[in-house]
Amino acid sequence: MDDIEAPASRSRSRSISTPSSEGLPTFDDLLPARAPLTLPNEEKRLVIPGLDLDVKLKVDAGPGCGGIAWPAGEVLSRYLAYRHNQTALLENKTILELGSGTGLVGIVAGILEPSAKVWVTDQRQLLHLMKENVHLNLSPLQRTNVHVMELNWGETLPPNLPLKQTDLVLAADCVYFEPAFPLLVQTLRDLAMVNEHIEILFCWKKRRKADKRFFSLLKHHFYMNHVDDDRPNEREKYQREGISLLRLHRRH
Ligand SMILES: C[S@@+](CC[C@H](N)C(=O)[O-])C[C@H]1O[C@@H](n2cnc3c(N)ncnc32)[C@H](O)[C@@H]1O
Repeated sequence: MDDIEAPASRSRSRSISTPSSEGLPTFDDLLPARAPLTLPNEEKRLVIPGLDLDVKLKVDAGPGCGGIAWPAGEVLSRYLAYRHNQTALLENKTILELGSGTGLVGIVAGILEPSAKVWVTDQRQLLHLMKENVHLNLSPLQRTNVHVMELNWGETLPPNLPLKQTDLVLAADCVYFEPAFPLLVQTLRDLAMVNEHIEILFCWKKRRKADKRFFSLLKHHFYMNHVDDDRPNEREKYQREGISLLRLHRRH
């Protein structure tokens, strides 16, 4: 099924709000971080070592920051390709990507492993771009296992996601907008409540001091470890750019 799937039901019970206990956000906090790798309406080609073909990415600044390729997405894609080629990491896995933007990371997972069932998710305005990129990169057969779905952080998880079967959650460059911090933590918690053994690969680029607040929230609910099984020398390279790749596990 390669069509965009809408959540079967949506709840607005948790809405975006700025945490009042921490005072009013500064102007800088409210501006989404800027660091696009691409310009509006460009088609970008990414070389991910371990993939036979370049990934073609349609980008579009129109629907917001997610329409542009961000650096942590590339780091996470490279990690998946490396680990999968070493250990068949993605074989028969059910994978959910949060805040996919262009769809890059989930698409790479779908290219790497035909047996993996992948859900690339984001806010509604990104769905068409993700779908376009799924079509650009995956054959009709591969597309049967890569689904595009709306998932808004902080809201009730869409009931038509295979939550109990989900083994792996991917998130890249999702720490950039302070009012969304508690919403993302809530969604990660909700996912980990359904399956306590779920593995979360979380790649982020440090941009501002406020990012620390995200991790103070997160650490109440998750153990965080830097991945130590990336391609030799890779970690040093991305850490020089302020990027970290973490593995999260639920605290009991
Ligand atoms: C900086 S972009 C990163 C996109 C992509 N993961 C990448 O690495 O290129 C952050 C993404 O988070 C998504 N996002 C922000 N707030 C969200 C929310 N409340 N619910 C779902 N997605 C959200 C944005 O739409 C955007 O696609």
